[in-house]
Amino acid sequence: MSYQQYPLKSWNTFGVEAYADSITIVDSIDDILSDKCKNILTTNEPILFLGEGSNVLFLQDFHGHVLINRIKGVNITEKKDAWLLHVGAGENWQNLVKTTLDKGLAGLENLALIPGCVGSAPIQNIGAYGVDLAQVCEYVDVLCLTDFSQRRLYVNECFFGYRDSIFKSIYKENYVIIAVGLCLTKHWKPVLNYGKLYDLNPNTVTPIEIFKAVCTMRRSKIPDPKYIGNAGSFFKNPLITESFAVDLFKKYPDIPHYFNNYGKIILSAGALIERCALKGYKIGNAAVYDKQALVLVNTGGANGLDIVHLASFVRRRVAEKFHVWLEPEVCFISSQGKIDAVKVLL
Ligand code: FAD
Ligand code: EPU
Repeated sequence: MSYQQYPLKSWNTFGVEAYADSITIVDSIDDILSDKCKNILTTNEPILFLGEGSNVLFLQDFHGHVLINRIKGVNITEKKDAWLLHVGAGENWQNLVKTTLDKGLAGLENLALIPGCVGSAPIQNIGAYGVDLAQVCEYVDVLCLTDFSQRRLYVNECFFGYRDSIFKSIYKENYVIIAVGLCLTKHWKPVLNYGKLYDLNPNTVTPIEIFKAVCTMRRSKIPDPKYIGNAGSFFKNPLITESFAVDLFKKYPDIPHYFNNYGKIILSAGALIERCALKGYKIGNAAVYDKQALVLVNTGGANGLDIVHLASFVRRRVAEKFHVWLEPEVCFISSQGKIDAVKVLL
C-alpha cells in the first residue's frame, strides 16, 4: 500500500512529513458511530485520533487510520455562582478563550494562545501562567471505541496532575474525548503569580488585560507554528525530590525552580538546557529554539528522526551536567501508533 496519498504534514504543527493509510474528519458523535467510521474502527489496524496535531511527533509514516476530531458546539448555562460550559471536543481552544471573554466570562484568560482542541486539553491538563485546566474543568465525556458506550468522568475522577491525567493511562487506548464541561465562577479572582503578570494591579486588572499580557509574553518567546514548526515545550519540567534539590542548589544556586500547583518542586528544563549552552544548537534541520530552549523547532524539512536525534542529544547533555533525565511532553507516534517517548530517546 502506498502512503503517499494521505499526507500528515499539515496535520502536525512540527510540520514533519509523514503519511497515513487514511485521514477522516469527524464532526459529530454520529459521524464516529456511522458505518464508514465503524468499518475503520473495526479493521484491527492502528487508529489515531488527532485534534490539531500540536503535541505530536510523527517518527515515520503511520500505518493506520487518522481520525481528525472536529466535533463542535459550545453550550453555556447560567447558574447562581458560575457559568457552565459544555464544549464539543473539536472546538479550537483559543477560540473558546476568546468567546468566553467576549461574553464577559472570566477564568480562561491565563490559558490564552495554547494551540489545539478543547478535547485534547484534559489529556495533559494544559497549563500556563499559573493556571491549568483542572482548575476550571467540571467533567470530561468519553466514547469507548470498542463498545461505543459513553461515560462522563467528573473532575475528581480525571486524576489531573502536572501535564498528566487519567487520559494518559487507563483511558489512553480505545477511548476518545467527545466533550468537556467547564465551570467558570462568577467570583473571579485574577491569577497574577507568573512572570510579567506580577506587574498588573490585582485590584483593577481585567480578564482581557490578562489575556493580552499572556499573549504578548507568549509571542515574545514561543514560535508560531505557522512560520516555524514546533510543538511547544518538547520536554516536561522535571519534578525533583527535596534531597536532590538540596544537593543541586548547593552546586547551582541560580537554577530557576518553583512549587507547582501540586506542591512539587519543579525545575525549569529550559534553564537546564540553556546552561548546557544548547540554545540555537542545530542537528540537520532540527534546532533548539534560540529564544526558549525548551522548544525544539523544525527549521525546514526536518523529519521525525532528525528531531529525535536532537532531543536525545539535549537529554544526554542535561543528564551529564545536572543528573536529571528530561522526559518528553510531546506524544511520539510510530508506524503502529503511540509509543513510549523515553524509550525512543534512550
Ligand atoms: P494533538 O496534538 O492533536 O493530540 C495530542 C494527543 O492527544 C495525541 O496523542 C492524540 O492522539 C490525543 N488526542 C487528541 N484529541 C483526542 C481526543 N479527542 N480524544 C482522545 N485523544 C485525543 N501545552 C500546554 O499545556 N501549555 C502551553 O502553554 C502550551 N503551549 C504550546 C505552544 C505551542 C506553540 C504549541 C505548538 C503547543 C503548546 N502546548 C502547550 C501543547 C499543546 O498545545 C497541547 O498539548 C494541546 O492540548 C494539544 O492539542 P491538539 O488538539 O493539538 O492535540
Ligand atoms: N528559562 C531559561 N532559559 C530558557 C527558557 C526558560 O532560563 O531557554 C527560564 C526562564 O527565565 C524562567 C523559567 O525558565 O525563569 C521558566 O520559563 P518560562 O516562563 O518560559 O516557562 P517554561 O517553564 O519554560 C512552562 C510550560 C509552558 C507554559 C509556560 C508558561 C512546561 C513543560 N512548559 O514553560 O507550556 O506556556 O511554562 O506557564 O511546563 C507547553 O507545555 O508546550 C508549554 C509551552
